[in-house]
Amino acid sequence: MIVVFGSINIDFLLRVARLPGEGETVAGQDVALAPGGKGANQALAARKAGAAVKLVGAVGNDAFADLALANLVASGVDLSGLRRAKRPTGAAFITIDDTGRNHIVLSPGANQDVRAADFAPVAGGILLVQRELPEGETLAALRKAKDAGMTTIVNAAPSSGFAAEMRDLADIVIANEHEIADVAGRVDAPEALAVDLAKTGKTIVLTLGAEGALAAKGGQVWRAPASKVNVVDTTGAGDTFCGAFAAALAEGKDIGAALAFAAAAGSLACTGLGAQSATPDRAAILKA
Ligand code: RIB
Repeated sequence: MIVVFGSINIDFLLRVARLPGEGETVAGQDVALAPGGKGANQALAARKAGAAVKLVGAVGNDAFADLALANLVASGVDLSGLRRAKRPTGAAFITIDDTGRNHIVLSPGANQDVRAADFAPVAGGILLVQRELPEGETLAALRKAKDAGMTTIVNAAPSSGFAAEMRDLADIVIANEHEIADVAGRVDAPEALAVDLAKTGKTIVLTLGAEGALAAKGGQVWRAPASKVNVVDTTGAGDTFCGAFAAALAEGKDIGAALAFAAAAGSLACTGLGAQSATPDRAAILKA
């Protein structure tokens, strides 16, 4: 069982020819609303990759909540740990340019009301967290998971000031090229940082966009290429990677096989607009 302790958002998606600079206005296409949030995206990805998944999170009592939860409900993610908060459902305002790159502005809303008390550890399971919930609650959930002997996976996104305790509580850290410096607390080449951090015995996974991904543990390094796809939107690709990686570990794959599975899943996630429209299922990942 994978428990995701994470955010749930409604995403406002807006395609633009190019991302605006500071103080600049650019005209975009029609706005689209879609389910998102790093926690929800990762829970969906893990479920579609074949795992049993529970999501602990919060939404508001508003019109956006049902849409934010729609894919999770349809795919069979366990939502019994969901809180209905007084604040509005979290919202992300995302602009996507013609090359698939994005800018995201986040209003956390109900995500601020998620509590570690809502998380019940599952013996032998995996706890997967990101950094869109209150940090103190995420740390408390990680401590509970470690005490119960769960495997802990911390996705370092979104980046900024990574607490040393969060790194210490993680068995596995997943970071991209920018986030890895926050995790390490120093600046160096991303691969060098990943390999160095892994000397502690933790598994460090570094996602490299079109270049694929690498994992390091102790003195060992694994690499996996990205699949060749037609990139429409990279939003949520990292989340799909994290969910698929956790699902692969949950079914007993080793680190190298889990990395290859996750890299294929993350590539496929780039082929549709929004974070969840192209989340691949297990069959599609195995075929990629
Ligand atoms: O990682 C992509 C996600 O980040 C989006 O779905 C958005 O909601 C923000 O949380």
